[in-house]
Amino acid sequence: MHLANQSSQATIAQFDRYVIPNYRRFPVSLIRGEGSWIWDAEGHQYLDFFPGWGCNLLGHCAPRVVEAVRDQVGRLIHVPNTWYMESQGALAEALSERSFGGQCFFCNSGAEANEAAIKLARAFAHENGRFKIMSMEGGFHGRTYAALTATAQPKYHAGFEPMVPGFFYVPYNDLGAAARALDDQTAAILVEPVQGEGGINVPTAGYLAGLRRLCDQRGVLLILDEVQTGMGRTGRWFAYQHEGIVPDILTCAKALAGGVAAGVMMARTPVAAVFKPGMHASTFGGNPIACRAALAAIETIEAEGLLERGIAIGARFRDQFEALRAELPHLVRDIRILGTMIGLDLTVDATDVVSECMRRRLLINATHHHVVRLLPALTITDDQIDQGCAILADVLRQVVA
Ligand SMILES: Cc1ncc(COP(=O)(O)O)c(C=O)c1O
Repeated sequence: MHLANQSSQATIAQFDRYVIPNYRRFPVSLIRGEGSWIWDAEGHQYLDFFPGWGCNLLGHCAPRVVEAVRDQVGRLIHVPNTWYMESQGALAEALSERSFGGQCFFCNSGAEANEAAIKLARAFAHENGRFKIMSMEGGFHGRTYAALTATAQPKYHAGFEPMVPGFFYVPYNDLGAAARALDDQTAAILVEPVQGEGGINVPTAGYLAGLRRLCDQRGVLLILDEVQTGMGRTGRWFAYQHEGIVPDILTCAKALAGGVAAGVMMARTPVAAVFKPGMHASTFGGNPIACRAALAAIETIEAEGLLERGIAIGARFRDQFEALRAELPHLVRDIRILGTMIGLDLTVDATDVVSECMRRRLLINATHHHVVRLLPALTITDDQIDQGCAILADVLRQVVA
């Protein structure tokens, strides 16, 4: 069945009739993307500072990813995990070698990766009577039941109670609170190295290392949710590498496969060994298309020096935003940046800023009402950064005017 290449309005009408309205959507239909540019059905061109909600870390339609998917789709689209696949093995090796030498379980999304991590941690600690999971206030781990329960934000639980038993929460970036709350039934601490949805909250240096020490002292597993921070987003393959520690379990999704749906849970081998055949599974997890796409993403990052570029991008945004803060001190409350995780904390509602930027063809995101969140591509050019920041600055000047 061919698509009709219809207008945005026609597509919106179709959605109104046939798609469950569980998302707030911008009133345009997007049809094509290239790097940090994207076009709608009417031919309008947008500069995208938030490509694919963090999934398109290499920009839209990264050439190596497109080529790998095109090649794979003509050979083998899907085989179940009852068979071996070279692409899955190669990706597991590539990820393991770029992280902490553990083993991988593949799935399709961040929530699924976190479900796997929670199950693995409980299975590992089962013999010792440990089952509780500690997570952090303001965190985000996904919408499936255990991941949602770990997401310590009441607004996401409302209407879905009762939640899964055995979860408890402490404030983020507070080692003392974590130490006091741990008990002999705690199996794992689940934490984002930088809180993404929570407002780009970068913890104090030493926080993750402190959690690692605490876990070692108390016989608890450390699970890092790198669904948003992983795969080069912060200028390292994984954000924990800024702190020189090693997690027991790590989850990653979003940018993993250059925009193709994919998720992974990695675990240190002695922990991973607890999962025996039949204990966990994902039908589409680790399929050849996703794995080839992820391998192409890794190749792109290494061939183009994009980890280093991520640091430079963050520095350029920081310069732009520091100038803005000097100009509009009452509007800019804080600037929080680690590589290409960028948060501009405002004293005003950021949702209006998002709408006005969109009108001016700049795509950005707002989280927690007052934080402008940007997750730009590692392939964005300096000119594109400057161009988008000029639009954003102009919109903010208008807000205060
Ligand atoms: C840190 C973190 N964990 C988990 C998730 C859930 O990922 P998914 O939407 O792929 O299930 C997200 C999504 O934004 C995230 O940012």
